[in-house]
Amino acid sequence: MADLTTDFLGITSPNPFWLASAPPTDKEYNVRRAFEAGWGGVVWKTLGSEGPPVVNVNGPRYGAVWGADRRLLGLNNIELITDRDLFTNLEEITRVKKDYPDRALIVSLMVPCDEASWKAILPLVEETGADGIELNFGCPHGMAERGMGSAVGQVPEYITMVTEWCKTYYSKPVIVKLTPNITDIRHPARAAHAGKCDAVSLINTINSITSVNLDMLCPEPMIDGKGTHGGYCGPAVKPIALNMVAEIARDPDTRGLPISAIGGVTTWRDAAEFMVMGAGNVQVCTAAMTYGFKVVQEMISGLSQWMDEKGYAATSDFIGKGVPNVTDWQYLNLNYVTKARINQDDCIKCGRCFAACEDTSHQAIAMSDDRTFTVIEEECVACNLCVNVCPVEGCIDMVELDKGAVDPRTGETVGDYANWTTHPNNPSKVAAE
Ligand SMILES: Cc1cc2nc3c(=O)[nH]c(=O)nc-3n(C[C@H](O)[C@H](O)[C@H](O)COP(=O)(O)O)c2cc1C
Ligand code: SF4
Ligand code: SF4
Repeated sequence: MADLTTDFLGITSPNPFWLASAPPTDKEYNVRRAFEAGWGGVVWKTLGSEGPPVVNVNGPRYGAVWGADRRLLGLNNIELITDRDLFTNLEEITRVKKDYPDRALIVSLMVPCDEASWKAILPLVEETGADGIELNFGCPHGMAERGMGSAVGQVPEYITMVTEWCKTYYSKPVIVKLTPNITDIRHPARAAHAGKCDAVSLINTINSITSVNLDMLCPEPMIDGKGTHGGYCGPAVKPIALNMVAEIARDPDTRGLPISAIGGVTTWRDAAEFMVMGAGNVQVCTAAMTYGFKVVQEMISGLSQWMDEKGYAATSDFIGKGVPNVTDWQYLNLNYVTKARINQDDCIKCGRCFAACEDTSHQAIAMSDDRTFTVIEEECVACNLCVNVCPVEGCIDMVELDKGAVDPRTGETVGDYANWTTHPNNPSKVAAE
């Protein structure tokens, strides 16, 4: 059976599934139960400075987006960092780490953006014996208004500066958690790298208003007739996170920088995808909040089974192996030609593919009087829209034309690899030598 043991920054955990800093990791009771359920590691709910803890709202703090079957697709929250006393948290962290030496325990931190505040808290965290720290530069609500969280994560110079302080006053690994609320994730990642972080983790939540109450004309969750933007997470954010992870993994300035991937991980497959795109492990929040701690057991068994099937003995056999396959649009092969093909045995004659292609694509699907749907190859541009709207998985295939075949749409013969950089229509094409 495949070995799921993961070494991230020299911190080993029995599997790559860590709980992200959030309510599931808010206290000793939770973390012990999470470890008993099988989680490989946790990032403790973000701690703030010594003194009176922050205060959360006492009304609803979550909003949601559901699929048609009421499955939770996206979760929005307006929760702050821990609202429990710093020293209570530190004592609990010390006890839990002592009792679970084989699990990863990282402490998430967010204190004011001045050297004295970081210098004060870091020795206290060091004393707990925790394996490392994660700097919360991502929280987009509440704390950002106080000059912390994403207010720091949106300014690369601040990221570098705080990371350097942490590397000065703390001896163990420093993970910088990035906000996705920026235009280009490579800039904060490079800033963290410049500050000599040991790793980055991403994504924190995305600024969002999930819904508006149409009776009260107010964003939800609603607190006494008023709402505010919150942080969006869950399955809906995975594509955004996956792209950001891949961008950092393939950026020449940050290539090789360890990445802990976060954002919508719900199944083993999500985790495998992030790891193939360069993540050394994954962190999970919404899936645990939706299905409970035991969801990790399916993640473990699924990943292990997939690794066995593929012949991967260890996670290092596939981590980052897909990064070379991420490229810029201009390098995609314009001589790769496919055509949609409808499998008549599977078709339920719903007509969705026809409506989509006829009204919004290339009028490349014909409908007969008896509702048989067929692809008109002379018109099909292979956009894949019909595949995506068809309710029957696998009913429509995209079939590749062989090299040397003639594309009935263009009349061109399928040739060797050629991309936009050399295409005759490209005004800035690379001149042939
Ligand atoms: C209710 C809630 C509270 C959160 N609190 C924190 C926090 O204190 N510190 C932090 O770094 N991230 C916090 N997060 C963000 C998560 O750690 C994670 O980055 C985000 O939810 C994306 O992962 P997911 O899609 O698996 O939920 C919180 C998320 C939620 C839903
Ligand atoms: S792939 Fe696109 S163009 Fe071709 S049949 Fe489907 S929707 Fe139409
Ligand atoms: S969408 Fe799929 S099932 Fe529906 S008619 Fe088209 S091919 Fe058939």
